[in-house]
Amino acid sequence: ERRIVMYKILKAEKLAEKIFLMDVEAPRVAKHCEPGQFVIVKMDDLGERIPLTICDYDREAGTITIVVQIVGASTEKMSHLKAGDAFEDFVGPLGCPSELISKDIEQLKKMNIVFIAGGLGTAPVYPQVKWMHEHGVDVDVIVGAKNKELIILEEEMKAVAGNLYITTDDGSYVRKGMGTDVLKDLVAEGKHYDLCVAIGPMIMMKFVCLLTKELGIPTIVSMNPIMVDGTGMCGACRLKVGDEIKFACVDGPEFDGHLVDFDQAMKRSAMYRTEEGRAMLKLQE
Ligand code: FES
Repeated sequence: ERRIVMYKILKAEKLAEKIFLMDVEAPRVAKHCEPGQFVIVKMDDLGERIPLTICDYDREAGTITIVVQIVGASTEKMSHLKAGDAFEDFVGPLGCPSELISKDIEQLKKMNIVFIAGGLGTAPVYPQVKWMHEHGVDVDVIVGAKNKELIILEEEMKAVAGNLYITTDDGSYVRKGMGTDVLKDLVAEGKHYDLCVAIGPMIMMKFVCLLTKELGIPTIVSMNPIMVDGTGMCGACRLKVGDEIKFACVDGPEFDGHLVDFDQAMKRSAMYRTEEGRAMLKLQE
């Protein structure tokens, strides 16, 4: 049986060194997706399955915006695709919608919420902040990156955030420091937060959670472990959350950041990169 559905790329644009954005025609995904969810794309028959967070969606136009960082051969190959090219597979929406959007709007309006995005984490933070803005909820957003060149979606974020705070590790833009430094300063200046949402590299989320635990701010993180099937069958995205074993693809990607075992998750991700490591994990589990 030949499949005729292809997912056409309508726009492809470089955002920063090794980071690019694409608008893809995927009407069914665009109709059903919510902030917090992700897709798994495949370039062709033999291609690797690549999980990507949904950065934006347009239900009317039937399009999904994805932001991709080149981290290996597949994403490198993907970066050469242009408008007019197509993905063979674009599966989604996968994972659970963001916990916040299921809350009562009036309750959300009374809360002080801070989002902390690290690097590429800005892409999945954006649709949540946009959703909040569209529902009349103002939130604070802290965006951190290694340097000025790696700050993405600044204008887009400015348009939907209540307050936007930018920081760079090397001080090449706005201020020097990590997202955690900005949060510390805001709290020291008297800001009070009821909830923090942190999305970025695992090591960054780990440090945000150490800080928010100290500050007593409940924290939601969005986990980005290696995923293969995205259906809870393969076990690649297994995580320890409190005393429980969870699968990021079906139970997440969001979890209570104060319960996630980040050290184990980072170790697993590193092991999963080699065949030997994968075999060892299989034996352990
Ligand atoms: Fe296979 Fe989650 S990706 S179980």
